[in-house]
Amino acid sequence: MMLLLFGPPGVGKGTQADLLQKQYHLLKFSMGDILREEVARQSELGLEAEGYMKQGKLVPDKLILEIAEDYIKKHRSENLLFDGFPRNLAQAAALEKKMQALGLQLDLAIELVIAQETIIQRLALRRYCSRCGAIYNLQSAPPRQPGICDHCAGTLLQRPDDNEETIRRRLQTYETETRPLAEFYQARNCYCRVDASGNPQQVYQNLIQCLNAHH
Ligand code: AP5
Repeated sequence: MMLLLFGPPGVGKGTQADLLQKQYHLLKFSMGDILREEVARQSELGLEAEGYMKQGKLVPDKLILEIAEDYIKKHRSENLLFDGFPRNLAQAAALEKKMQALGLQLDLAIELVIAQETIIQRLALRRYCSRCGAIYNLQSAPPRQPGICDHCAGTLLQRPDDNEETIRRRLQTYETETRPLAEFYQARNCYCRVDASGNPQQVYQNLIQCLNAHH
């Protein structure tokens, strides 16, 4: 199975990808996580990507496609779940071409949708574990001990792009660059839209319904 999740920042892509990954034995490919690891390592790629990420802009396609194509080639025999890739039409077309060349096919592109005010609230309260990457929310999914990861006791931090100004820019970028993916996948008959306004389990049930309806 090949799935992809897209939606505005903070809609819950990472949270849902973790749930789907466990139940369906999918290998999650999160472009945001890969880029953040590169930034943390201060690699050449990380140094180049960092400025774009801080400004809430997309990292240039050339860098993104190199990462994605390598990954897909390496993991072509596994069931993949794309989180945060593709993010514009050029990336979607490149992904399609790469998959065709490898004899692979996308089963479903799922768009998570939600009101803008909820997004800003969710992101302002998000924390992540600096050691294992687990995602928390001070309101909807708090850690047992403040500031400490439940899974590995790592320190919880706030992402540098989770400030109001950058969030608004990321939302704009989403509207202009990423939303057109809905039409792209609709035209290929592999698109589904899911209401992401409920709690994580409710959203997950909506996702499962959508998956079942398309299988
Ligand atoms: P990326 O890391 O992909 O960021 P994003 O798309 O902005 O999405 P987020 O990770 O912020 O949110 P999410 O939807 O995963 O929500 P989450 O589950 O954490 O990308 C970062 C940057 O990298 C981009 O801005 C860009 O610069 C660059 N980049 C990445 N991919 C690229 C590409 N393909 N091309 C070019 N550049 C690229 O949830 C958010 C919070 O809400 C959490 O606190 C969570 O606990 C909580 N929450 C989740 N679900 C619920 C719920 N149902 N109810 C209540 N709370 C919830």
